[in-house]
Amino acid sequence: MSAPLDYEIVCSSCHKSSSSLLEFKCNACGKPLQVKLKHDFDTERIHETTHGLWRYREFFPYVKEKHIITLGEGWTPLVKFAKKVYFKLDNLNPTGSFKDRGSSVLISALHESIKRSRGFISEDSSGNAGASVAAYSARAGLRAKIYVPKAVSGPKFNQTRFYGAEVVKVSGSRSRVAEAAQTVEKGKFYVGHILHPLFRDGIRSLAYEIAEQSGWRVPERVYLPASAGTLLLGVVEGFRHLVESDILEAMPKIVACQTQQVSPLYHRLKNLSYTPPDKITSIADALVSVNPPLLDLMITRLKEIKGDSVLVEEDQIIEAFMELAGKGFFVEPSSAVAHAGYKRHLSEGKLAEDDEAVIVLTGMGLKTTLEPFASK
Ligand SMILES: Cc1ncc(COP(=O)(O)O)c(C=O)c1O
Ligand SMILES: [Zn+2]
Repeated sequence: MSAPLDYEIVCSSCHKSSSSLLEFKCNACGKPLQVKLKHDFDTERIHETTHGLWRYREFFPYVKEKHIITLGEGWTPLVKFAKKVYFKLDNLNPTGSFKDRGSSVLISALHESIKRSRGFISEDSSGNAGASVAAYSARAGLRAKIYVPKAVSGPKFNQTRFYGAEVVKVSGSRSRVAEAAQTVEKGKFYVGHILHPLFRDGIRSLAYEIAEQSGWRVPERVYLPASAGTLLLGVVEGFRHLVESDILEAMPKIVACQTQQVSPLYHRLKNLSYTPPDKITSIADALVSVNPPLLDLMITRLKEIKGDSVLVEEDQIIEAFMELAGKGFFVEPSSAVAHAGYKRHLSEGKLAEDDEAVIVLTGMGLKTTLEPFASK
């Protein structure tokens, strides 16, 4: 008899178990898959001399140590910004965004078997995830084909090409791009980061780091931007694992921040109807999922953990972006959405200035195509 598995990949809806790490959705009902860990978090099992996300490698049991593909992602600084406000600087990851957590875990888990079948990977992305998956594929010696919307911004597009990926521009909506990436081709393995459970699972490491860097105390609130939902769902799973393992006493209040233009999660959570604009013109150009495939799961999880969502107007995003840059934190405008969400809650009295909050800064400023403009 083989040794018992200490994890399982199950359907988030019908709970059918998946037998292959390569599956990206439930083969019975088509709903998203998720990783279920069968052992508790244990601080004794942290590899303390590894200053990156692989310090938690025991908690990613589907990755063999010899297969780890790393560019030094994770263990990003948690810096104090004001009284009890901390920034988690995930913009400082190797390719300039939090996506590297997902890519490192996903590519580490799959590259050997894909290379063995002489295959290549296919991914769809509006920018950062494509660049990130391209970088980790390059490191693993794996061929990558990245499908992007026709209007993808210059720096992310160029970055993806420099890593040596084949980039395919697709016109039409974001869902058209995903469809193109999934078309059947000889040797193609679709590992789209939005659907693939292992990418999302890699984001768990962000919650572990926030907790460890806070001395295993729970920050009262965590603000993060939400679009497709991989960041939100990954962070929720990480904190839940810590609570279920009795490492933390309670969940932080997790607040998903959305732009006024792209806010399906906010509207559904507040029981409001949402009509997306014909064209998205927000400076938060990485947040474009008007109809995210993970929406049901995001709503379920946010309700289970009594999380919240906040919507920010365009001028609030610009103000938050300028405030961050003016204090030396040059991030993507999409990251400023989390800071704007925090500021909005503060002005509405949802929290006090001396409540402890962690704001996740997700992408680096050099990725923006904006020209400097005068602060208001
Ligand atoms: C910089 C940045 N922040 C936040 C997000 C939102 O993450 P998610 O799509 O997982 O909700 C993205 C997604 O592309 C991003 O690129
Ligand atoms: Zn299912």
